Amino acid sequence: MKKKIIITGGKGKFASYFKKYSKKYNIKFPDKNKMNILNRSNLSKYLNANKPDYIIHNAALSRPMSLHEKDIIQSINKNIIGTCNIVTESSKRKIKLIYFSSNYVYPCKKGNYKETNALLPKNNYAWSKLGGECAVQMYKNSLILRLSVTEKPFAYKNAYTNVKSSFIYHSEAASIVMKLLDQIGVINIGGKNQSIFQFAKKSNKNVKPIKHNSKIALVPKNSSLNLTKLKSILKLS
Ligand SMILES: NC(=O)c1ccc[n+]([C@@H]2O[C@H](COP(=O)([O-])OP(=O)(O)OC[C@H]3O[C@@H](n4cnc5c(N)ncnc54)[C@H](OP(=O)(O)O)[C@@H]3O)[C@@H](O)[C@H]2O)c1
Repeated sequence: MKKKIIITGGKGKFASYFKKYSKKYNIKFPDKNKMNILNRSNLSKYLNANKPDYIIHNAALSRPMSLHEKDIIQSINKNIIGTCNIVTESSKRKIKLIYFSSNYVYPCKKGNYKETNALLPKNNYAWSKLGGECAVQMYKNSLILRLSVTEKPFAYKNAYTNVKSSFIYHSEAASIVMKLLDQIGVINIGGKNQSIFQFAKKSNKNVKPIKHNSKIALVPKNSSLNLTKLKSILKLS
């Protein structure tokens, strides 16, 4: 029998890249009307009716990052309290939980961050993702993925030459996630460490190089990831 997966925030951008795995798995993509992470009784009903083997917790307040500075209530509710609700409901039913965190939970100064490095979010989006991680860490049947993901083609007109990341595209990230479903702990997911401009120009020929003004604190300067753990797991599987 096919394993059952529920992807919270099922109408979100990242969630859409998991549709193609529906042949191998029985995947449900509930939106917030069907499965609202802020409503415990609604959550409970949906989980009792569907009995998943895995929850991929994708629902969140995501972009723009500035929204998390302007509206902390929404950010706290969706990303911290919503995640706490998912953890408690998963733990009651012993459902394997996979949580989408972010590379921005690292200090984003020197880059090449390993899963065991100290964390120090630079902005409220990153604090909200780390807030979610705290609850997930307490539930041992879980996997925290610190992702560096963006859209293909690169969606912006300008890209920073002096900001480094480990971006990969959603479709590549989704394919990696599906190989990690039975892992536990924390795993970084991303690609090559490079400037945003170097990455962006490969999928968007019109993108213009610009320099980041370091006074704007919201953009983390070097959020690149060390992928040694991911690479060794993928070789083994
Ligand atoms: N995009 C990236 O670069 C990136 C990088 C690293 C990690 N992530 C993480 O990946 C996840 C998905 O990101 P995304 O870019 O795909 O965001 P997205 O398109 O905004 O998807 C998030 C989904 O969550 C839903 N949602 C909001 N409140 C909800 C609630 N109370 N109950 C149930 N669903 C709710 C949203 O529905 P409505 O739109 O109807 O409110 C939306 O469909 C997030 O956890 C994000 O932090 C993203």
